[in-house]
Amino acid sequence: MTGNDKVKIFDTTLRDGEQSPGMSMNLKEKIGMAKQLEKMGVDVIEAGFAISSPGDFTSVKTIAETIKNASVASLARASAGDIDTAWEAVKAAADPRIHLFLATSELHLKYKLNLSEDEVYEMAVAMTKHAAKYTSNVEFSAEDATRSDMDFLARVVSGVIEAGATTINLPDTVGYSTPEEFYNFITEIRKRAPKLEDVVISCHNHNDLGLGVANSLAGVLAGVRQVECTVNGIGERAGNAAMEEIVMALQTRKDLYGADTNVVTTEIMRSSSLLSQITGVKVQPNKAIVGENAFAHESGIHQHGMLKNAETYEIMTPASVGVKDSNLVLGKHSGKHAFEDRLKILGYELSSDELSEAFEKFKELADRKKHVYDKDLEALVSKEAVQVPKTFTLGSFVINSGNEITAMASVKMKKKDEELENVSGGDGPVDAAFKAINKIVGRELELDDYSINSVSEGEDALGDARVVIKTVAGKKYAGRGLSTDVIEASIKSYINAVNKLYYDEHGENEEETMR
Ligand code: KIV
Ligand code: ZN
Repeated sequence: MTGNDKVKIFDTTLRDGEQSPGMSMNLKEKIGMAKQLEKMGVDVIEAGFAISSPGDFTSVKTIAETIKNASVASLARASAGDIDTAWEAVKAAADPRIHLFLATSELHLKYKLNLSEDEVYEMAVAMTKHAAKYTSNVEFSAEDATRSDMDFLARVVSGVIEAGATTINLPDTVGYSTPEEFYNFITEIRKRAPKLEDVVISCHNHNDLGLGVANSLAGVLAGVRQVECTVNGIGERAGNAAMEEIVMALQTRKDLYGADTNVVTTEIMRSSSLLSQITGVKVQPNKAIVGENAFAHESGIHQHGMLKNAETYEIMTPASVGVKDSNLVLGKHSGKHAFEDRLKILGYELSSDELSEAFEKFKELADRKKHVYDKDLEALVSKEAVQVPKTFTLGSFVINSGNEITAMASVKMKKKDEELENVSGGDGPVDAAFKAINKIVGRELELDDYSINSVSEGEDALGDARVVIKTVAGKKYAGRGLSTDVIEASIKSYINAVNKLYYDEHGENEEETMR
């Protein structure tokens, strides 16, 4: 190690991350997330698995056409059809990459592929050659590498490098390895496949034993120069190694790793929040780097130490990962310029239409809430970045509820210019309102998850409601709504989820109604 090495960050939030339950995203959300990843400075964005569905193909292609400052990759199995489709999807990118994978462990060969070692070897080499006809930016992943026979793995790795692979990924697919073992594994494979010295060695560590990040860092010590990871650590089963933890570990312990990344760390928090807003899945409060409590000091002794010298209990500053102090900033008398200036300080550059829309919302909020904090502004604005068309909007609602009566909700909504209204009883005011919306849109939607939290402090705090709704077919959509009134926030979150469902089923300009 030179002491100044760069470790590439290969972000697979939109592929491995999106593959996990409850994390699916629509096209707009994927584009919004990809732009944020680009802003954060990741080196490679794995945009999806182009052949897996027409929707995936479109999103990989659109991301490839949109992103200019990161390589855009599509996953492909080791088959010509997959590789051709992956290339079709990424070829317009500024720096397209084909990422093909084939399992190398005995278990996978026997039970999944039903192929011999020789057959897998031939297939890996032939398909790498096929991919290399399109581009020199070819990554080969030996799925389940850590449970593979070392001699066979070395043979495959050497073969695919000769065939044109320029990045070799050695995944711990089932999160079985431990840090010491993974260090030895990378060291050993480098000895057995000397051609690895001519390419980028990559790792992809799943988190089944909670060791995804530790294993990735051990990999870096052993010579890995690309780490595959996801924002908030989302991914199959227990997830993938968390991007924010790897990046901050490398930065904070540069003395140990002698390697750094290109990530703009001040964008980490925004990436994390954007992802949880999109998916409706919050990160646990004590999650390293991006959890609500990651920089909270509760005990008196710690607070005392912090006041004397922050380094007593803080190994990195909140500001370094983009956590802002929630200072009082704006109020109802603040004008558009002050609003725009503050957003710029927070890092949001909105188009003039977006700014006008956000300012309207800010004014509504400032009328109801005396103190508008940075957190409130971020909650208002970051959501705008990935909004689906607002086919349905809330008009008004009336709730009749009490502890001795059945709650009743009357909800008025608009579908474009059409006024819609319905009434329902329910198990409490929120349930009644959701049922009234179901009647309005003519769907039997089930509430799969619901939570409400406050964005900032104070009695008039902004309520942040999140729902996940489920269709009869089992498809899930997350929604989010903000208001100082918790029932209104809840209704808005439900309508937001319905709009996502509508967008998914009907696209951008579909006139047909859902009713
Ligand atoms: O976990 C894994 O092995 C993968 C590969 C497709 C890279 O996701
Ligand atoms: Zn994986």
